Amino acid sequence: MALREILRYPDPRLRKKALPVARVDKEIQDLVRDMAETMYKAPGIGLAATQIDVAKRVIVIDVSADRKDLRVFVNPVISERSGVFGVEEGCLSVPGVFEEVERAQKVTVRAQDQHGTPFELVAEDLLAVCIQHEIDHLDGKVFVDYLSRLKQQRIRKKLEKQQRLAM
Ligand code: NI
Repeated sequence: MALREILRYPDPRLRKKALPVARVDKEIQDLVRDMAETMYKAPGIGLAATQIDVAKRVIVIDVSADRKDLRVFVNPVISERSGVFGVEEGCLSVPGVFEEVERAQKVTVRAQDQHGTPFELVAEDLLAVCIQHEIDHLDGKVFVDYLSRLKQQRIRKKLEKQQRLAM
């Protein structure tokens, strides 16, 4: 297992569209393990492969309080969405920024798990938001894209400044 470096907004690599996983093999299982370790260490409640510069449709999520409910989604696709829900979202690629985004309150998602077994899940509230947020990453989207242009500029400046200071 290895910790991976998380890309920071506005890194252009966050804009890459991830490709479907043809087969859930050992390489994917290793990737999932690294992603889970990186997410827990950060700490965060979700991570998409895009965020560690791997263009594959894989996400990991754990919204549980005790951090023992890892959910793995390979090739996730939302087939149904309903309702409106919003929470203050954060993102490991946009540290220190929390903003509410309008999302579906309930989604039905189809995916494969880390063994390649297909499943369907109906998720609500925070888990539903997290799934939508992470799938956005796979499509090259970041939650700040939903905010006003002014807020986006402010966030970009703030993060660029942080990165300069960190050098
Ligand atoms: Ni994120």
